[in-house]
Amino acid sequence: MNAAESLFRPPCPKPLSPLMGLVRSIASGEGDLLSLLPKDAYEVDIGTLGYSRRSIIIVNKPEYTRHVMTDAIDIFPKNDLMKGALAPLVGDSLFVSDGETWQRQRKMVEPAFSFIRLGNAFHAMQAAVDQFQDTLTKRSESGETFSLDFSMSHLTADIICRTMFSKSLESDVAMDVFESFSLFERSVSNVKLSQLIFGKAWSDIKQTDEVLAACKRIREQLGVLIDESIVNEAAADGLARAVVDARDENTGEGFTRDELIDQLGVFFLAGHETTASVLTWAFFIIASRPEVAQRIRDEVDQAVGENKIGFDDIKKLPYTRNVFRETLRLYPPLTFIPRVAAESCKIGKQKIKRGAMIMIAPWAIHRHRKLWDEPELFDPDRFSQEREGNIVRGSYIPFGQGPRVCAGATFAQIESTLILASIVRAFDFELFDKEKVKPVARLTTRPKHEIQCRVKKRQ
Ligand code: HEM
Repeated sequence: MNAAESLFRPPCPKPLSPLMGLVRSIASGEGDLLSLLPKDAYEVDIGTLGYSRRSIIIVNKPEYTRHVMTDAIDIFPKNDLMKGALAPLVGDSLFVSDGETWQRQRKMVEPAFSFIRLGNAFHAMQAAVDQFQDTLTKRSESGETFSLDFSMSHLTADIICRTMFSKSLESDVAMDVFESFSLFERSVSNVKLSQLIFGKAWSDIKQTDEVLAACKRIREQLGVLIDESIVNEAAADGLARAVVDARDENTGEGFTRDELIDQLGVFFLAGHETTASVLTWAFFIIASRPEVAQRIRDEVDQAVGENKIGFDDIKKLPYTRNVFRETLRLYPPLTFIPRVAAESCKIGKQKIKRGAMIMIAPWAIHRHRKLWDEPELFDPDRFSQEREGNIVRGSYIPFGQGPRVCAGATFAQIESTLILASIVRAFDFELFDKEKVKPVARLTTRPKHEIQCRVKKRQ
């Protein structure tokens, strides 16, 4: 790390007492779960968060998180609150299912993320990035101000559409999915906060009519996209076709149409907002630190010169990838990975009641005082070959861990490295009101207010 980088502490909320955190979170009126994390959350191995009707246990110690997420997954299934909030959109599909249902789905979906499929998907990623560069060129010429967050959501949704369905987001159907999805994203975190504080375990989650209507619309449109991708030869290499063609190894049966909508809804849900979140923070940091931008440019220059960045070039960009990884550490898109205790048990010496909410918080683990040196500093070289060995095993879990680890982690890493390298080498970003930027936890870790920016094309 050079001297300038060593000074950079990107924004985070000041941890308060549990009660003050609750007051702050309610006052913000936005379901910001991040404000609820007290100071202790960054210091303890395991502890109780004391503001809710149900018991909430935060688990930080790697040995304990491994227990919850790897060794005892039947005792700690996916959290009821999360399942209830997402059910109208994705049913009982891969992201939220448990037990045998989940095992069958995971086996059937895994081939969609094979290296060969990813190689094919890369062309679709490139096409989306090319189009985004054209848009940025126009914005650079007009000098217009635009939302960084929205641009990233649009870009990653475009990539998901192209890689799944060989269709750009410009089609009416895809755009409708994207817009309805944005509404769902905004509304669902409010439901979660009130249920978290006042609800009992396994109680019904009530969604507004507006959210239910958005979910219905997304599902109808996903059905249209799936039907088209089955008959469209150009979509034969897409991720959707891999899921359509998947067969249960015991029964030989494929997914029903409804199940296909569930699974592809998950790809859309898990696969675009997450990447958009980390890219928003990465561009925020890069625009604030010219020396980081310069190192990316030097690396791209050395690896590919003036050429287009190809699939095989991605591995020649370790610094760019480490900027992505360090941004994922400081701003993990899934701020929390919740589970529920299906039976009374113990984690370490801590007694856990049946129905307790188990909060694995990548946000807190990645900033934990015992696990990281200078946790709040942005330092991509933590992940360099020389220093990576110092990272405590289990202290870095942006993609989760164990059998439920993110199915799209490699996809996300390739996509994000391509985007960062392509855009940073061609454009300078100028941010407005950057001192006001503040992270909050909604469906993903987001800036409280959209970040406004302008771009300038580099010569
Ligand atoms: C930077 C981007 C991403 C991050 C940080 C991320 C993070 C995660 C995390 C933490 C989990 C585990 C959740 C849990 O254990 O409860 C997960 C699961 C999953 N992710 Fe991702 N994800 C990203 C991108 C993607 C992409 C691009 C896709 C697909 C195109 C995807 C598909 C999935 C699926 C299907 C699961 C469920 C896996 C299972 O339960 O078996 N993710 N993701």
